Amino acid sequence: MEKTYIMIKPDGVQRGLIGQILQRFEAKGLKLVASKLMVVSKAQAEKHYQEHVERSFFPELLGFITSGPVLAMVWEGDQAVVTCRNLIGKTNPVEAAPGTIRGDLALHTGMNLIHGSDSVESAEREIAIFFEQSEVQSYTKAADQWV
Ligand code: TYD
Ligand code: MG
Repeated sequence: MEKTYIMIKPDGVQRGLIGQILQRFEAKGLKLVASKLMVVSKAQAEKHYQEHVERSFFPELLGFITSGPVLAMVWEGDQAVVTCRNLIGKTNPVEAAPGTIRGDLALHTGMNLIHGSDSVESAEREIAIFFEQSEVQSYTKAADQWV
């Protein structure tokens, strides 16, 4: 079953949006298999966002993502990567469709509430940055057969 790395960023934690964001993933039928509230280290942030190292916004991005606790998670489901990206919406909240998390709840690209892996390969790489294998659960839910 496909897994993806999802992270509620410091703005989402500070704004008290954890509950309503998680509700969307649960309601969609995805399964939470790992989660922890943590402060991302500079080293983890640099690894996680390594593809953006040359971009002008990189220093600001690192400062933001390490500025306070995030909720790091792994969600599992059929095509979990693309499904979660669709729930999250476009990077710039101005372009994110209403009904998506960023479209409904965010205003600015720099504080767009949530991260979701952009491919299965990215998901595997990102999950390994934030979780030990033993922290990722494998279990069945009675509802699995209904989604
Ligand atoms: P990116 O991987 O392009 O977006 P996404 O989070 O949708 O995968 O960029 C990573 C984060 O970097 C993005 O969520 C917010 C930040 N960012 C900026 O601050 N300014 C920018 O111009 C871009 C493209 C991203
Ligand atoms: Mg990205």
